[in-house]
Amino acid sequence: MSNKQDTSKLWGGRFSEATDSFVQRFTASVNFDRRMAAEDIAGSLAHAEMLCAAGVLTQEELADIQRGLAQVQEEITSGSFTWSVELEDVHMNIESRLTQLIGSTGKKLHTGRSRNDQVATDIRLYLRAAIDAIAAELTRLQQGTIDLAGRHSDAIMPGFTHLQTAQPVTFGHHLLAWNEMLERDHGRLQDCRARLNQSPLGAAALAGTTYPIDRARTAATLGFDRPTENSLDSVSDRDFAIEFCAFAALLMTHMSRMSEELVLWTSAQFNFIELPDRFCTGSSIMPQKKNPDVPELVRGKVGRVNGHLVALLTLMKSQPLAYNKDNQEDKEPLFDTVDTVLDCLRAFADMVPAIKPRIEQMREAARRGFSTATDLADYLVRQGLPFRDAHEVVGKAVAHGVSSGQDLAEMTLATLQGFHPGINADVFEVLTLEGSVAARDHLGGTAPRQVAAAAERARERLRRR
Ligand code: ARG
Repeated sequence: MSNKQDTSKLWGGRFSEATDSFVQRFTASVNFDRRMAAEDIAGSLAHAEMLCAAGVLTQEELADIQRGLAQVQEEITSGSFTWSVELEDVHMNIESRLTQLIGSTGKKLHTGRSRNDQVATDIRLYLRAAIDAIAAELTRLQQGTIDLAGRHSDAIMPGFTHLQTAQPVTFGHHLLAWNEMLERDHGRLQDCRARLNQSPLGAAALAGTTYPIDRARTAATLGFDRPTENSLDSVSDRDFAIEFCAFAALLMTHMSRMSEELVLWTSAQFNFIELPDRFCTGSSIMPQKKNPDVPELVRGKVGRVNGHLVALLTLMKSQPLAYNKDNQEDKEPLFDTVDTVLDCLRAFADMVPAIKPRIEQMREAARRGFSTATDLADYLVRQGLPFRDAHEVVGKAVAHGVSSGQDLAEMTLATLQGFHPGINADVFEVLTLEGSVAARDHLGGTAPRQVAAAAERARERLRRR
């Protein structure tokens, strides 16, 4: 044996000099992939138990491995485990400690597997748990949003297009629009989970293994729906991570839209809502300031999440089959996406139920913006005018309102009749905000009774999850 051989490495046999110390640091992943230690141990336990059932390991060997891995887990949990960059990654850190603890039986654990199927298994297990945690927070946010909507199914606010006052809607209706975005996000997350939940274990390095392994057994032990089909694909596929990041980018895009509205609504210019002080911060120079930092930061964090999606797409682009070291770069973007999404959901799930709408100010804003002009046009259509002509008549009335500083509902009947003689006293019913929203009384419309029913259906969807 050459004295220059690198004996510290689990793969050191064919090497005649030690790894360059910079290269060692450059190629190591332990500082971030140690986050998957619990999943790595769960995968190893499933693998060892299957090897024993297949007659590759004896009962005693399995018992030693189980005992050793339990101790490794205990050391990691308690913080006494020594992570070493020389051992490159989470897999070799754990395996090497196992061998220290139980002797040469530890070296048998890697029979019939490779770090390539091992890491693919670990990421799927890790991400599956993360998805379930994210789904729970997303559901909590939806619950809070729907409850707030249900409490304000009849609170009138201006609805906007082009951020100009368009037609009155209810605050509950607006909040339920947010909930629809989140509902689709939840669906995408579950789609991602369903495709992710297959076991790559047994693919080994790329071609499978010569041992009589039972892939269905390890898949079942680890809670996967089934083993993956193709060993080459199993070790190289990171679609599930990309799908998850795509889900996350769209969720964050939705939360940035919600954030933007919250930021606008808390401004003195809108003054539609109040956020509790505990979700805001002050200014070190301007004593009057109360800044909506939480929604602003959520709005800002969409940047890194979108970036991670692009990073993973670019990582996988043009990669030849099967495993390539490039794939080690999948973890940091994925982990940061999980952390960011969980934090943002948590912040929103805590904050949204605490939003205090300023109902009078919202109503007043709807009243000021000629928001019932379409209702007047519809009224004239019911009197027999073609819609385009009605549109013209109301346009003139609005122009008069702009110059005289009056809303349509504030004009006298005589003034209104000056624009069209078919207008009668009953017009004031349709010009009121309440009349306007109540008239949009169909599935998906903003009539308060429709909004209340929609909130109930949304609640029912959550209950069925
Ligand atoms: N640390 C590696 C990763 O994260 C584990 C797999 C390494 N496999 C290999 N053949 N070098 O992808």
